[in-house]
Amino acid sequence: MVGSSIAFLCASNSLDDIILLNRTKNKALGVALDISNAIPKNSDNTIHGTNDFSEIKNSDVVVITASTGIYLKNRNEIISSQVEMIKDIGKEIKRYCPSAKILIISNPIDVLTYFFQKETNFSRNNVLGIASSLDSSRFRYFLSKELRVKQTQISDALVLGEHGDSMIPIFSNAKINGKNVLETINSKQKEDITKQIQDYWKVLRNFKSRSQFGIAKNTYDIIESIIKNQTLSIPASILLEGEFDEKDVCMGVPIKITSQGKIEIQSVDFDKSEQELFKKSAQTIRNNIKSV
Ligand code: 2OP
Repeated sequence: MVGSSIAFLCASNSLDDIILLNRTKNKALGVALDISNAIPKNSDNTIHGTNDFSEIKNSDVVVITASTGIYLKNRNEIISSQVEMIKDIGKEIKRYCPSAKILIISNPIDVLTYFFQKETNFSRNNVLGIASSLDSSRFRYFLSKELRVKQTQISDALVLGEHGDSMIPIFSNAKINGKNVLETINSKQKEDITKQIQDYWKVLRNFKSRSQFGIAKNTYDIIESIIKNQTLSIPASILLEGEFDEKDVCMGVPIKITSQGKIEIQSVDFDKSEQELFKKSAQTIRNNIKSV
């Protein structure tokens, strides 16, 4: 449902032509038929469903939302089959669109971004794992709820690190009405908000099968900035090569997509405890990579 939700946003906003690829061809055809009616009447964009990788040839952006099964308690539950899947997909994408920007949504995002990168050897600037921006939306949501303010009064609420239990909301950077939130919230509130962000998806699943719209909108914003050559600052998972004292690991860090479509990794001022948590999060992802 995440892939079709992203496609719906792209189609209804007349972003560009869309190919939906699914191993079950009829599913791709059906979703394409449905979404094609969402293309505005002043748009010449098309949407097409297929199970044939050759049809994505020369795409500008490829979004990977595929999954080999269901995980219930932990995003790493089906890690081995997910890694096999991402390698297979990587081979096909390397063959048909080696210059595309690749956005990985499938979980575990950081591990899959890493293996996709290794499989394809693409420039690290063309391979992003998308989830920290979703986690940051959740951070903003809880801050506004806890502090009883509108979410527009919250700024710079970043969640970095693993898209998993070790993710880190960067409180030292977050602001309410331009002032650091730490001037307003106590350590108990901080702990509660952190846990609620980490567990958001589990709570959501008590009500519906999967999260869908939040990640779709966060991914759409990135696709739009790439297609329209617009600048966008967001957190995303990317291969680190010494930034933040980490290398050979993919994890959520602040990035900027420039109007020339380049990706620049941004710095952030951590406090000491956040720095330690960031290190631990990197180690968690590394252990997950090693476990495969
Ligand atoms: C989410 O955080 C499950 O990773 C997905 O909503």
